[in-house]
Amino acid sequence: VIFLFLFTPLFLFGAPQAVYLTWGSSPESSMTVHWLSSINEKEESLTLFHEGKCFSFQATSVILPTDTTYLVHKATLSHLKSDTVYQFKLKGETLYKFKTMPKTLENPITFVVGGDCYHDSLDLLNQMHKLAAKKNPHFALIGGDIAYASSVFSFMPENTKRWIEWIEAYSKTMIREDGTLIPLIGAIGNHDVNGRYSQTPEMAKTFYTLFSTMPGPQGYAVLDFSDYMSLFVLDSGHTHPIEGVQTKWLEEALSKRGDRKYKFALYHVPAYPSCRKMSTLMSPEIREHFVPLFEKYQLTAAFEHHDHGYKRTFPLKEGKRVTSKGVVYIGDGGFGVESPRMARPQEEIPLIEKTASKTHFIFATLRDKGLEVEAIDKEGAVFDQFFIE
Ligand SMILES: [Fe+2]
Repeated sequence: VIFLFLFTPLFLFGAPQAVYLTWGSSPESSMTVHWLSSINEKEESLTLFHEGKCFSFQATSVILPTDTTYLVHKATLSHLKSDTVYQFKLKGETLYKFKTMPKTLENPITFVVGGDCYHDSLDLLNQMHKLAAKKNPHFALIGGDIAYASSVFSFMPENTKRWIEWIEAYSKTMIREDGTLIPLIGAIGNHDVNGRYSQTPEMAKTFYTLFSTMPGPQGYAVLDFSDYMSLFVLDSGHTHPIEGVQTKWLEEALSKRGDRKYKFALYHVPAYPSCRKMSTLMSPEIREHFVPLFEKYQLTAAFEHHDHGYKRTFPLKEGKRVTSKGVVYIGDGGFGVESPRMARPQEEIPLIEKTASKTHFIFATLRDKGLEVEAIDKEGAVFDQFFIE
């Protein structure tokens, strides 16, 4: 009996395996709580606590299709107050906390960005999570190649264990100093889908189950933060083609947000790679279809990944450096990469202003007057800093 007690996983006693937050819409007045449990834990209620009152919410759940011993639960809490801390309980006594987004930019908003996450050890992943969490960001953007769980062959199964390890690590370490969990928004990368490129969502079953809220089943989506910021989450040709329906959707979504002060894009394969060649798979298509729209509708910045090194382009328009109204591309992944790649020689990448072969994440501070960006390495040191008005 003692042996069984010591070696039975914690989730069999009722604690969820991982709890994580995201948004499908209205980050200033809602929160979507996900939790992962054993298949036996069918309990689907969430109790929310605020100002001495408690409210019960009903959740839904789906079986994780790639490992049917798990359930993924989801509860969307709406009509919340902005910029407010709430507490909630699932089954068990653990009290979790979250904070809704502010309605305005009166005070700065901060977020972290990283991609190519569980590439190497869990120790490195957690080291980076802890550094990122220490910045107390409002939320985290994850730019694909999240768990490195998929196979290069579309007929091979995903290694779901890696997804479980990644989401457990995220949920246990991405917590702010005040105890609030840090919501995450993810984009799909080539290592999140069996077959890597030009596949269907069927080939990325775990991604689409864990990220069913954002980007959701369509694979690309826009999230509006009140009236000050919009985030476009895109699929760089893994489970949805770049050209055609997705580009048409992007143009419509951007055109409806012409007066939005800040607009960001999050996706995996870079338009302007720093380590790989400009002709690398999907990069030319992104430059041909997404980039003209980013320029036309004046995107504030694009967050790119996949290349495993740091880069920041000059402000760019029509493939050239410009001094005003250009788009800056920040990347190139390497959140959990032990040995980042070297950038190509400077003469081959004239559109890129800064590169570094470093494991890193981006820390962004958004104010009414502009965006301040820091690139932070695995020792916690700032190695690049710039401002976009
Ligand atoms: Fe990648």
